[in-house]
Amino acid sequence: MIAPGAASVRTPNIAIEFESVGLTFGARTDTPTVALKDVHCRIEPGKVTALIGPSGCGKSTLLQIARGFLDPSRGSLRFVEIASGQTTGRPAMATVWQAFNLFPWLTVIENVAFGLELAGLPRGEREARARVAIGAVDLAGFENRFPRQLSGGMRQRVGIARALVMQPEVLLLDEPFGALDAQTRLVLQEQLSRLVETSGTTAILVTHSIEEAILLADKIVVMTARPGRIAAEIDVKLPRPRTFATTHEPEYGALFDRIYGMLRDEVMQAMIIESDGGKE
Ligand SMILES: Nc1ncnc2c1ncn2[C@@H]1O[C@H](COP(=O)(O)OP(=O)(O)OP(=O)(O)O)[C@@H](O)[C@H]1O
Ligand SMILES: [Mg+2]
Repeated sequence: MIAPGAASVRTPNIAIEFESVGLTFGARTDTPTVALKDVHCRIEPGKVTALIGPSGCGKSTLLQIARGFLDPSRGSLRFVEIASGQTTGRPAMATVWQAFNLFPWLTVIENVAFGLELAGLPRGEREARARVAIGAVDLAGFENRFPRQLSGGMRQRVGIARALVMQPEVLLLDEPFGALDAQTRLVLQEQLSRLVETSGTTAILVTHSIEEAILLADKIVVMTARPGRIAAEIDVKLPRPRTFATTHEPEYGALFDRIYGMLRDEVMQAMIIESDGGKE
């Protein structure tokens, strides 16, 4: 089980604001791709915001912009301290990618502690923090295993531990469970839901799964087909803790249908864009 509280995160106090953000790949080439256009969105601190939209609509691009790996071609990104209302620097962030991205030649504990080593922490502290994070994802006892000796679900939990160990103010999750089988995915969704509830961390979750978005998010941002824009922002008011049983609630069904209705149109639009050659 992912034990909440075992992995400490800082008190969230910074909102992320995307203002008219646009991004064009290959702008100076003959075949530019407009990935994002005029995106306005506010990520509230201490909340989970899910980004959902058709393949290629710019979800990962938006995360990369938040992370600082890509600069928007247009518009801006602001980090705003809630208490003072002042803009501030980029908060500490950690990312869980869809591909597990573990180093195959390092053990579980070495993988988890890797970022701390880069940060120059002394060995004792690295190990202590890594053990706490490993315990938080219920992998105590597996510290000395190599990734190839773990199941897909366990590997992904190592990925989550590796992000948590950095004690990020913002957790970026890019389809964290996309590569897992349906049952493992369900269990991890429930566990992650509990973790984010109790830790109060700010999180942005990219997912293709409406179910995952509803179970985990406080707000669901539905994106249009490329060029990605915000089609709707939907608050999820279902009570927590949310579990598989939540999916039987009438309110869940209504929300699911509403989001599915929007996505179906956008996914069909995305299919047309792709069959046109994928470029703008
Ligand atoms: N480095 C790049 N160079 C050129 N085009 C890119 C690059 N990265 C992404 N793109 C294009 O930008 C668009 C948005 O890509 P992005 O990866 O953000 O989509 P996504 O919503 O995350 O898709 P998926 O759901 O399939 O992961 C796509 O058309 C993609 O092909
Ligand atoms: Mg993506």
